[in-house]
Amino acid sequence: MRSKILSYFLNHPGEYISGEKISEDLNISRAAVWKHLKALKEEGYQFDSQSRKGYLLQSIPDLVSEELVVPRLLTKYLGRRYKYFKEVDSTNQKARELANQGAPEGTVVISETQNQGKGRLQRGWFSPMYKGIWLSLILRPHFLPQEAPKMTLLIAVAIAKVLRANQIPIGIKWPNDLLLEGRKMVGILTELSAEIEQIHYVIVGIGININIAKQEFPLDLQESATSLQDFSGRSWRREKIVAEILAEIEKLYDHVLENGFAEVFRLWKEMNITLGSEVRVLCGDGFYEGVATDLDASGALWVQKNDGTKELVQAGDVSIRSISKN
Ligand code: BTN
Repeated sequence: MRSKILSYFLNHPGEYISGEKISEDLNISRAAVWKHLKALKEEGYQFDSQSRKGYLLQSIPDLVSEELVVPRLLTKYLGRRYKYFKEVDSTNQKARELANQGAPEGTVVISETQNQGKGRLQRGWFSPMYKGIWLSLILRPHFLPQEAPKMTLLIAVAIAKVLRANQIPIGIKWPNDLLLEGRKMVGILTELSAEIEQIHYVIVGIGININIAKQEFPLDLQESATSLQDFSGRSWRREKIVAEILAEIEKLYDHVLENGFAEVFRLWKEMNITLGSEVRVLCGDGFYEGVATDLDASGALWVQKNDGTKELVQAGDVSIRSISKN
């Protein structure tokens, strides 16, 4: 009901609305309206109240709560189950627990902060409170487990499309980092639960640095990481970006389920900054260098080594040598 009251105000911007009118239109008691308005104020919504006119919504808090995101969704199923937390260990971990309990395709788990955010290759992920989008999606695609790594390409493409539409010149680094001027702004961690022939679920974890100032990053990240605010010099509303990204992911995912991954590969190649670059590939204790030449059909990366031979990189750490920061 709180969401309904909030949507009511959001649909009447700049208007004073009386408690009586809300109670009539939403068919709840005056006491309940008052109780919900009090709770909204405690969450950071600011209302002006005037005895004859009623309440005016003056400002909304900077949250990625259900109340603020779900009314903006243009999706059919993505985010329609929306699990919002102020703090979790890791949204991927929470999403895994929910998926094991049968949570449906499209469930979104999102948190204002993570105290054990997970990155790829057993690394951590810096997830400060209210400053980013820390989100995991539960998907249950009906394709073979070998196809799952391509989901990461799909998610990278969807996010890059949204950011580019907002005039942010982001590029995709294989397989799943989004970089701005050589610094990482977005990371994606895809985890799979499957049998040989069947996917139970895919958890796609997305971390986007939004309103983090350069000096707020830990020292070891200050040169290699960036945020939307750090790049653009202004702060961004996170709930709007979450809604835009979920819409783009759903559009592309539906397309893939119908038509396969060809369009994802085309867009990925258009927006990537890896192909054609000199790269260093870490493997075991060592590394080798070469030029990234193409993606294979599974989404793995072809690298032509300096000795002329070709290697297919399935997973691992690839740095682009012309971009010293990553
Ligand atoms: C990477 O190493 O680039 C992947 C980072 C993925 C971070 C996101 S934040 C939301 C989700 N929950 C996690 O614990 N990790 C992912």
